[in-house]
Amino acid sequence: MKKWQLKKLEQLRELKKDKEMKTDIAEVLLDEQTIQNKVMELGKKISEDYKDKNPVMVCILKGGVIFLTDLIKNISIPLELDFMSLSSYGDTTKSSGVVKIKKDIDVDITGRHVIIIEDIVDSGLTLKYINEYFKRHKPASVKICALLDKPEAHKTDIYIDYKGFKVGNEFVVGYGLDYAQKYRNLPYIGILKKEIYS
Ligand code: IMP
Ligand code: MG
Repeated sequence: MKKWQLKKLEQLRELKKDKEMKTDIAEVLLDEQTIQNKVMELGKKISEDYKDKNPVMVCILKGGVIFLTDLIKNISIPLELDFMSLSSYGDTTKSSGVVKIKKDIDVDITGRHVIIIEDIVDSGLTLKYINEYFKRHKPASVKICALLDKPEAHKTDIYIDYKGFKVGNEFVVGYGLDYAQKYRNLPYIGILKKEIYS
């Protein structure tokens, strides 16, 4: 097969993938451009606030990873990256707040300025757990940067220092967010049709 034919085939596959996933989306909440504009704004703010602070940005896997990679391209100051992976038990569309660390950070955060990068704050229990866990290491500061926030779902007092968008209580997917590991690669954020998860 010729190079252009392979390319065409690849494009068709992409279209099919997008169509397949799109039929599961009830409504596009935030389109690609809207997300990118906000990410740029957040990156600029972090660059100003952390000038000369060499922050450690800890991305919560896997949902935060798309947001992180776009965000850091919009940050103009030196920074360090680290990753953390947690599992929470119970319902797949709700956090139980019972958290287990599957992958801990590698960087010693004692005396460092830490920024936690999350995809979405739902009950807030995961972030509360991480925050308390980090504080035991005596960092200089810990701040939270989350692309999405579901304020009506909070079950704990949580302050989000850098927030992208507020959303309602619907289950959303795309731009890192998944349902059963699917939809993370959508470039936009959409509400998942209820029949998919109920
Ligand atoms: P929390 O502990 O309830 O705040 O749970 C936060 C985590 O639950 C997020 O990092 C997501 O992985 C997941 N989550 C919560 N709401 C949604 C959603 O609407 N779509 C996809 N994942 C979600
Ligand atoms: Mg997450």
